[in-house]
Amino acid sequence: MDLWVEKYRPQSFDEVIGQKDIVEKLKAMSSKKEIQHMILSGPPGVGKTTCAVVLAKEVFGSTWNQNFIELNASDDRKLSVIQGKVKEFARTKPIDSPFKIILFDEADSLTQEAQQALRRMMEEYSSTCRFLFSVNYQSNIIEPLQSRCAILRFQPLSKTDVTKFIDRIAEKEKLEIDSEAKDALEYVSRGDLRNLVNLMQSLANVSNKIDAKAVLQSSGLMDISKTIEGLKAALAGDFKKSRAIFSEIIDSGINMKELLISIFNVVSTTEIANDKIKNYIFEKLAETDYRIVEGATPFIQFQAFLAFLSSLK
Ligand SMILES: Nc1ncnc2c1ncn2[C@@H]1O[C@H](COP(=O)(O)OP(=O)(O)OP(=O)(O)O)[C@@H](O)[C@H]1O
Ligand SMILES: [Mg+2]
Repeated sequence: MDLWVEKYRPQSFDEVIGQKDIVEKLKAMSSKKEIQHMILSGPPGVGKTTCAVVLAKEVFGSTWNQNFIELNASDDRKLSVIQGKVKEFARTKPIDSPFKIILFDEADSLTQEAQQALRRMMEEYSSTCRFLFSVNYQSNIIEPLQSRCAILRFQPLSKTDVTKFIDRIAEKEKLEIDSEAKDALEYVSRGDLRNLVNLMQSLANVSNKIDAKAVLQSSGLMDISKTIEGLKAALAGDFKKSRAIFSEIIDSGINMKELLISIFNVVSTTEIANDKIKNYIFEKLAETDYRIVEGATPFIQFQAFLAFLSSLK
């Protein structure tokens, strides 16, 4: 079975969705064959590794495989293993190119000590190697490494970008996805295209018609339509109805933390109440969250929260 993550990994800069500024910079570098050391920073599944690989393919052409190596920092976390691999790779001459490229995936999971060692390796091999670091949190990278690198900040993908990606796959795989299901896919993937493509593949295994319900079920995330319904009931003053709806949600196995986050998201991103009421809700939500963390009985706290909402009317 083909993994769609690989099948739909862009092979050229033109196939990369979004990240316009970064793609432009990388294209310019590759056409001049002048590559800097770089930190590719940003949330998961937005194209960091993809862009690094495309860069290598553009710069090296047919010899990209010999001149490029990807080391996963979290697999090879032992310093000596990393050093060994870098040395072995950097020792041999680049083929038809003045330099090679080393990509450290998940470099932010390296210890400070390992990063210090990397810094020394960068110095030692910088005449023949360019170092790329892919990270989720730039702040986990030590200052001396940051200062030796250009920093590319990958952006979370916009709704339009995510839709574009869904449409691309739907067309190739002949999937039927209605607009509600697209909204659901977008909601559950939160801009992480790896997550999204994996989810689409697992749904397509079941049926080529994808609906919102299936998306929410298989994502393991809660169905926010229920949360909206429950909140609306409470805000309309119907405590009993909202308690029944939320009890059902909780009985389906959703934990309280997840439920509170989902309420927070709904209140932040929808017009469910006016701003004044929203502020009251946020305040009470924070209080409920705090009490639960402190060890108070979750469902009693949650009911108190609903009672408060019901009293706002
Ligand atoms: N900008 C993009 N355009 C098109 N496809 C993308 C893009 N970003 C991610 N993808 C899809 O998601 C998959 C994973 O992307 P990639 O490996 O580049 O993520 P990443 O940013 O390196 O994430 P991580 O931080 O988890 O390593 C790709 O194979 C591709 O299918
Ligand atoms: Mg990556």
